[in-house]
Amino acid sequence: MLASALDLIKKAQKGHYAIGAFNTYNLEVTLGIIRAALLERSPVVIQVSENTIFYAGLRPIISIVKTIAADEAGDVPVALHLDHGKSFHTVVECINNGFSSIMIDASSYPLEENIRMTKEVVEYAHKKGACVQGELGRVKKAEDYDLGNNVTLEEIGELMTKPDEVEKFVSETKVDSLAISIGNAHGMDVPGLELDLERLRKIKKIVSIPLVLHGASGIAPDQIRNVIKEGITECNIDTETQFAFTNMLKEILEENPHLLDPRKILAPCIDAVRAIVESKIELFGSGGKV
Ligand code: G3H
Ligand code: 13P
Ligand code: ZN
Repeated sequence: MLASALDLIKKAQKGHYAIGAFNTYNLEVTLGIIRAALLERSPVVIQVSENTIFYAGLRPIISIVKTIAADEAGDVPVALHLDHGKSFHTVVECINNGFSSIMIDASSYPLEENIRMTKEVVEYAHKKGACVQGELGRVKKAEDYDLGNNVTLEEIGELMTKPDEVEKFVSETKVDSLAISIGNAHGMDVPGLELDLERLRKIKKIVSIPLVLHGASGIAPDQIRNVIKEGITECNIDTETQFAFTNMLKEILEENPHLLDPRKILAPCIDAVRAIVESKIELFGSGGKV
């Protein structure tokens, strides 16, 4: 069934586990995520980015997620969320087409501008009954760091969420949840980089709203368990499901070069996504929390 992302993450916060927020692009990935959620009896967030809206079209991708959530997920809650919304215009389009949860990512702007843009979005979204995730500190792509140099937390320090800005950001914007930067990066993890638990603890003491870890692909399971223990209530996964889907696609086509029927080619890819999402649900502790 369709649900509000905020309800799911608030429940996770009370229960000391995390909700997985998985990116989708199409029917197949959506089926893989929802089948995993059903098998694990786990609430899930399914999120689409601006690039996916550009690829699939806003209404088609909404229809895919909403239809499968409503018709096939039974009592398992599925929330549809806009991932990394960059502009007021995108947010308005998404909310007016039925999103109950959106992210405004103005984290590349200086603090005051991030606050101004986020606040504008929150005022609009709340009037329409939607909840908003903001981002403070920047979560870059792993490849934007010089991987050859074994990046350290000190080197990316400037990009990480500054605990002394958190209270101001949250109280002025009135965001419902907050994406933070504590050494996490989009894409596979930066080798050798440990998440900054001390920073997370400081942030957690300052604000009570749910905290979100972007770039959760490739982070060692122990580190994920630790950040959930310290108060992360939503973990975003995209790259690992992409690997699962695309590696299976390559394998099927390499092994069966004459296969023609797209359903026969794509069914194992759906299943590969299902398997990786199930493993993440188990890691995040959200299985059985329907
Ligand atoms: O965090 C970003 C997500 O992985 C979405 O990436 O803009 O390529 O769809 P995308
Ligand atoms: P990964 O691609 O690193 O899993 O990050 C996903 C994400 O943060 C989506 O917002
Ligand atoms: Zn992200």
